[in-house]
Parts: sequence; C-alpha cells; structure tokens
Amino acid sequence: MTTTSEQLLDIKKIREDFPILHREINGKPLVYFDNAATSQTPKHVIDCIVDYYETKNANIHRGVHTLSQMATDAYEEAREKVRAHFNAKKAHEIIFTSGTTHSINLVANGYASVLQKGDEILVSAMEHHSNIVPWQMLCEKTGAILKVIPMSYHGELEMDTYKQMLNDKTKLVFVNHVSNALGTINPIEDIIHLAHAVGAKVLIDGAQSAPHIKADAQALDVDFYTVSAHKICGPTGVGMLYGKEDLLNMLPPYQGGGEMISEVTFEKTTYAGLPHKFEAGTPNISGGIAFGAALDYMNDVGFENIASYESELLKYATDEISKIEGVEIYGTSPEKKTAVLSFNIKGLHPYDIGTLLDKMGVAVRTGHHCAQPIMEFYKIPGTVRASFSFYNTIEEIDIFISALKKAKTMLL
Ligand code: ALA
Repeated sequence: MTTTSEQLLDIKKIREDFPILHREINGKPLVYFDNAATSQTPKHVIDCIVDYYETKNANIHRGVHTLSQMATDAYEEAREKVRAHFNAKKAHEIIFTSGTTHSINLVANGYASVLQKGDEILVSAMEHHSNIVPWQMLCEKTGAILKVIPMSYHGELEMDTYKQMLNDKTKLVFVNHVSNALGTINPIEDIIHLAHAVGAKVLIDGAQSAPHIKADAQALDVDFYTVSAHKICGPTGVGMLYGKEDLLNMLPPYQGGGEMISEVTFEKTTYAGLPHKFEAGTPNISGGIAFGAALDYMNDVGFENIASYESELLKYATDEISKIEGVEIYGTSPEKKTAVLSFNIKGLHPYDIGTLLDKMGVAVRTGHHCAQPIMEFYKIPGTVRASFSFYNTIEEIDIFISALKKAKTMLL
C-alpha cells in the first residue's frame, strides 16, 4: 500500500538520507519505532558535525583568531535559524541549553526568587517527569503550591476543571504541547489565553511537538517554550529555551561561569545580557550548529507533509493493531494526537513484548516513559509505545504488526 502523502514525500529518497535505517538488528532489518525518545539523524546533520570538527573547531565568543570567529558565526547563525523556525521576535530570546530538561530547570530555578508562599503553580496530569519534578523542587524552596489539571480516561485534559482552577494566585502554568506517553496534542492556545487572563505565565514543553508541529512563539503569545534537538533529527545534548525578553531579563542566571558575566571582581559580579547570561561555560558548539542544520533538513521535507504522512501511518497502525485480540490502546483518537501508539496486550507485560519485538528487529519503548502519574492513572505498570516518524513506512508497520502477533503467540 502507498499512502497519498508517501507519494508526495518520496519516502524512498528520504530513507536514503538516514544511514542507520539500513542496518540490521538481531539479523533483521531495523524497524525503528522509538522516535519519541530519539529521532534518527540524517547524513546532512552528521556531515555538519564532521565539517565543524574538520574545519572550524574552536571556542566561541572568545577569540580574535579566524577559527574562533568562524565557529562563533556558525553558532550564531544556528541561533538565528532556531529563532526563525519558532518565530521568536529576537535571536537573544533563544537560549541554547542541553535540552528540554535543562531549559525547564533553568526557568524553575529563576522563579525561586520570584514566587511567594501560597502562590499556585498548575501542571497537567500528563506531564513528563521533567515537567513535574523541577516544579516540586521550586515549591519546596518557595512554599508555592503545585496543583494538577486532571485528564480524562481518553487522555485529554479536562479544560473545564482547568478554567475553574485558575485564579489570581495562579502564577505559572506548565503543560506539554504533546504528551510523550500518549501523543495527545493539547489545546495550548486556549491554555495560554486563559492563563494570561488571570496574569499567570505559561511554559509549554515542546519536546514532543517539535518533530510534528511548527510552533509560532509570537502567534501563541507563549511565555516560555522548550525543545530538544534530538527529537527533531538533531544531535543529543542540545536544545533550546525560548523566553519572552522581559521575562528572561527578570530571571536571575542559572549557572555562574565564563561568558555569562559583564564584569567580575571579588567584591561584585555583573552579568552579561541575553542570551549569554544563561549560557555559562563552553556550550555544545557543534550540537548547536547541527540543531540549525536539523531544522533546515526538516523544513526542506516540510512540516505539513510530515504531519499528514505521519497521521496516515498512525491511522493505519491503529486500524491494524486493533484487529489483534486483547490489545488496549491508551489515549485519544488518532486525529487528536501525533504519531504515538501506546498500548498493552491483555495478560502480557510490556517489557516482555518489547524484548521479543527487539529480537525481530523492531525498536519500541516500553515502561512508564518517564510519566509515572499517567501509568498510575490507568493502573498499569507501563505501556508499549510505538512512535512513528516521517521516514517510517507502511511496510514497516506490517512487519511490526506481524512481529507483535508472533510475540503474543510466544508469550501467551
Ligand atoms: N522523553 C523521551 C521519551 O518519551 C525520552 O521517550
């Protein structure tokens, strides 16, 4: 079967860009369905990293020598690419970090000096641990109170309850754009608008949305937005925090060190302006440059094409897996989520299914997906999560489904 979008996207050619997709695992062709954990890296991005180390490796913002200037220019060009992609007003509203977890911790740390005892912070019931634990730590430091926006059995946020929870004590709201464990696309436009109406600021964790949806920071009027490059065909260990200029200026630095200062004496240190105030120490320079290259690559493929092709993959996989007796799928309907299929088979442990799938060359994630409250909500130990990307194919889904049937027969 060929999907309409598959014809548009030339999947065969796209797959040639990803060397790893041509390897075997356990003697079988790799079927990589763990894209929500880490996407694969195209040759264009790998070449960019190699080129950096072969032609311009040097420290940035520090040297007058030519190599240092070349590295600085390439790094700042990448920042501009990230700015343009997320439509931030200014390049210095983009802070390079080591990824979403770092970005969230940076904001949480900053708000320790802003929040007061009794202030309220809202997080959603479907957050990744990285968008729960930093706020719990912040509450411990400040005496602020953490409240949870509930979700329905169908994996959607209960927006009526959210509206009732907002009040003049609400200072911050933290919600993921897309749930990593369920794939739900949350109504962040409404979430932001309603929070702003009571004067609260909003951080959206975009780790899982960035590979599928192009977010527009200015149109959303979002206060903070976080992304990890390794989810969008970039390298691990690099990501970004977008923050509105006035909010970033208000927050104190997260780490002290080189590059983040204006002047240092033993009596007093003054800090550099944005973005350097939040970028202490030598950053992941090749990573930042490759992040920009990854965005170039994905924009060339086209986010609209990606979204429609992936939704066809998800719909096909959902239809096929639903034919297997005993399968329970968690989360909302395919049209309200990104290409994530989180499921269990009655009587089987997700870990056993994942182990057998791996023996047949199929890579999925199993377990709680760093979202234990979701598993607690469904009263399950975890799920099997197959997550698709634009370089996956219908044929791979067929292989996955037949491997799943085989695993079921072996385990039951
Ligand atoms: N947060 C990543 C995932 O969902 C690692 O798998």
